[in-house]
Amino acid sequence: MSEQQRYRVLKRLASGGMAEVFVAESAGIEGFKKQVAIKRVLPQLSKKEQFIAMFLDEARLSAHLSHSNVVSVFDIGVGDGTYFIVMEFVDGADLKAVMEHHKKIGRPVPVEIAVFITAKICQGLAYAHELENLEGVPLQIVHRDITPANVLITKYGEVKIVDFGLAKASSQLAESDAGVIKGKFGYLAPETVLEQGVDHRVDIFALGIILWEMLAGRRLFLGDTDFATVRLVREANIPSLSGLNPDVPRELEQIIGRALARDQSTRYMSARDFGRDLTRFLFRLGRSVNEDDVAKTVRNAMGVPGHPVDGTQKIADLIDLMLLEFKSLTKDSASTGTSIFPEPEEDETSGSTSDVMELGGLADELEGPDPVASEESSVASWFRGLIPR
Ligand SMILES: Nc1ncnc2c1ncn2[C@@H]1O[C@H](COP(=O)(O)OP(=O)(O)OP(=O)(O)O)[C@@H](O)[C@H]1O
Ligand SMILES: [Mg+2]
Repeated sequence: MSEQQRYRVLKRLASGGMAEVFVAESAGIEGFKKQVAIKRVLPQLSKKEQFIAMFLDEARLSAHLSHSNVVSVFDIGVGDGTYFIVMEFVDGADLKAVMEHHKKIGRPVPVEIAVFITAKICQGLAYAHELENLEGVPLQIVHRDITPANVLITKYGEVKIVDFGLAKASSQLAESDAGVIKGKFGYLAPETVLEQGVDHRVDIFALGIILWEMLAGRRLFLGDTDFATVRLVREANIPSLSGLNPDVPRELEQIIGRALARDQSTRYMSARDFGRDLTRFLFRLGRSVNEDDVAKTVRNAMGVPGHPVDGTQKIADLIDLMLLEFKSLTKDSASTGTSIFPEPEEDETSGSTSDVMELGGLADELEGPDPVASEESSVASWFRGLIPR
């Protein structure tokens, strides 16, 4: 059996429709310890073979991404009967919390901070979009889920994109897993909802929405229902920013307008071009801004709980945390009785519970019900069909 890396969970950070995120410690030789973040697929989803296969594929692909504006993926693993990704722990806040903080204090994110953060996201996106394999063939990586919750900022002001490619995996989920994509319609590009061809420009559009929202202090596309939100995305009418925030100069409004062009052919062709225009704008604006300024903004927001955990879940959480033991995924440990990792030379499909099942029994008892399908599950299922594969 191969050597497996072990991880000790320290605390739960957040819990979403598809996964839970924990802070953990990786134990190394000679007492070497490193804090990492672990994103664990919800146990009920780990039984969905196509989803898990794509989740692991995407995780493997994202392990190749190495850039200061992208969260690094270190490992994939299995534990407590389900799969997880081990990644760089970002000690700070997500952009959603920063935006919520500014909403609470009744002031939009300052222009130079919002533009600086967006320019950094552009750098991370441009790197991933342009990445090639060793033979020079473009990998055509598209994030597909650029949202404020997927932009993390350290308390030192470094901006990092997280969850590359995972939206592709969630497109494999069925109607009953509707919770997975709930609330995500407001960051789609028009071509996605119009079922036209999509490419990396969906990420540019989503980033345009985020910048617009930071400056407007409100959501751009948000209807009363998911259906109404989708209609707003399809129409892609962009209210004047300077009308909502007098600090926004015309030049910036034009740049944002180009990122938010309804027609892909008039939108920025690359995240690099979008970022370059933002950086030039900052230079002309003549206001100095750097990571320290972003750090102040983030530290202010860090008091705001990003995703509060439901109180009724607390006892289960405590037991759960004591039980969790995560180990990296090796060929020996890959099998959970499904055929995700077919191994022609070794039969691992039955009998071999290996380390994976160590904690399976009790964890199964703690397992919650399947996510309840939302009343708009038909919109949800239609949406999943649209996600570029
Ligand atoms: N590597 C990380 N370091 C620190 N915090 C993280 C990390 N990854 C995720 N988080 C935190 O966990 C939260 C929830 O992440 P998760 O990806 O499960 O949900 P989401 O981003 O809302 O949805 P999705 O990514 O599925 O669209 C993030 O918004 C962030 O606050
Ligand atoms: Mg995320």
